[in-house]
Amino acid sequence: MRLTLPEPALVLLVGPSGAGKSTFATKHFGPTEVISSDALRAMLTDDPADQDASAEAFRVLSILANGRLKRRLMTVIDATNLRANSRKQFRALASRYGIPTVAIAFDLAPELYVAHNEQRPDRVVNNDVVADQTECMREAMTDIAAENFAALHVFTDPVEARQVVVERRPPARH
Ligand code: CTP
Ligand code: MG
Repeated sequence: MRLTLPEPALVLLVGPSGAGKSTFATKHFGPTEVISSDALRAMLTDDPADQDASAEAFRVLSILANGRLKRRLMTVIDATNLRANSRKQFRALASRYGIPTVAIAFDLAPELYVAHNEQRPDRVVNNDVVADQTECMREAMTDIAAENFAALHVFTDPVEARQVVVERRPPARH
């Protein structure tokens, strides 16, 4: 399977912990193209899971996203992006610069989020947190098709998510 993204775009990865967002981001994008809420929490506190730093991390995230989009650079938001309001704010930010926002959702079977978390080499997220996020994902998936994304790609098969080839479509020249 092939997934073609406009370039530049703002790409929102959407999915609970264990969905494979960071794995996907690292595989298909350069390190400076990806803005990760976990990485920013870690930079602020030395602990990527420190939720007390979330508000600050998201302020920094939004400054970085704004700076990159202003420069018309490909920008990927590696966060759960489970809240409709947060997705809306990102679309508004990109549209300020006339840049399309694309959502890539990892809508896997709930037990896979848990299984992926249990097998991961880095931090393991608590099953209760994953269960709450899975519930939010259900809600997100009922809303997301009606949200104004330039494109929406939904992975329901983890193998497809691992094997997809990502291409970039450069902007048309005028
Ligand atoms: N994984 C997998 N197959 C997938 C997706 C993920 O085997 N289709 C595995 C990864 O190899 C990793 C673990 O699941 O060991 C978690 O993936 P990760 O990309 O870190 O998940 P995130 O969505 O980034 O989770 P978080 O929100 O907690 O950062
Ligand atoms: Mg991650």
